[in-house]
Amino acid sequence: MAARKSKLKRIAICTGGGDAPGLNAVIRAVVVAAHRHGWEVVGIREGYSGLLDPQGSRDLIRLRPEDVAGITHLGGTILGTTNLGNPLKYPVKLADGQVVERDRSDEVLRAFKRERIDALVAVGGDGSLGIANTLSRKGLRVVGVPKTIDNDLESTVVTFGFDTAVSFATECIDRLHTTAASHRRVMVVEVMGRYAGWIALNAGVSANADAILIPEIPYDLARVAEAIQERERRGQRYAIVVAAEGASPRGGRESVIERRVGASDRLGGVGASVAAELGRLTGKEARHAVLGHLLRGGTPTTFDRLISLRFGAAAVRALAAGKSGVMVALDPPTVRYVPLARATRRMKSVPLDSDTVVTARELGISFGD
Ligand code: F6P
Repeated sequence: MAARKSKLKRIAICTGGGDAPGLNAVIRAVVVAAHRHGWEVVGIREGYSGLLDPQGSRDLIRLRPEDVAGITHLGGTILGTTNLGNPLKYPVKLADGQVVERDRSDEVLRAFKRERIDALVAVGGDGSLGIANTLSRKGLRVVGVPKTIDNDLESTVVTFGFDTAVSFATECIDRLHTTAASHRRVMVVEVMGRYAGWIALNAGVSANADAILIPEIPYDLARVAEAIQERERRGQRYAIVVAAEGASPRGGRESVIERRVGASDRLGGVGASVAAELGRLTGKEARHAVLGHLLRGGTPTTFDRLISLRFGAAAVRALAAGKSGVMVALDPPTVRYVPLARATRRMKSVPLDSDTVVTARELGISFGD
């Protein structure tokens, strides 16, 4: 957490990795707050690809306060992004057509020098902040901002994007209650979240699910089927099951739909298989719905907008104070700074004794265990 107070003239902001609602609010806060210090801000287009392969639309763009007016409420990122631009594992095509991963972090550092960029605000999840940590260890001045709908980053109470994803998932599950009840069906809703169950848990409890399957608690569908049948005996002839994409059966693995060089595994498919199996076990009609990228789109909630603006402004405050190698973290009622190395050390899973898990159990929600 070195403090270097040498004068900054030009800083960059990078929003690589999966997008999350609130990214544009962070960009606006960084640009406007940095402008007040007299710093120039450039946005790196499409993650680090904008530095490594600067061609066509992939490049650096100057961001002045007038360029970021009116974007706080917009989903996505005006800089564009990619999940394939990790400079530590950059996909490179060889002459024989084979694609391999290469560490191009030194090239990123050289590009920063070439572009006269003094410091970086890296907005990202575990992957992008891990890259930021490496760049920081190699000498770049970096401040991280925690982004991800998955909420799986340590050292911050919450990441921006999570509240929007949970709110939308809750609304969708609310809507599924009436169709499930009308048809007396089992309705399985698959939500994103990667290897953590935060979205499934929070949305499932808020929307009165009957069962919630999360990666932290391997499930046994026979137990879920029992819970559905018990509910049926009480006259409730439909059921809602929320399945996190990373949930896995006891003794089994999560469902992967694609493996790509230079990128994380794509998860998916658990909703369909759980619905089919629950249909077989309960004898009821079962259907599934996959919320997928709908959870990442749209307008950030007020909560996400506000923490995004606070995170962006706090990142600039950190740079102005000479901090580097830190991540802005929410620690209500304030924000604080934690070392990037600590923030990216391991994933934040749902603690099994967390109050929300205990509450779910007390409300009669099954975790299939
Ligand atoms: O990390 C955010 C996230 O939306 C995960 O919940 C999901 O598993 C993944 O990204 C999907 O990535 P992609 O947009 O590459 O399909």
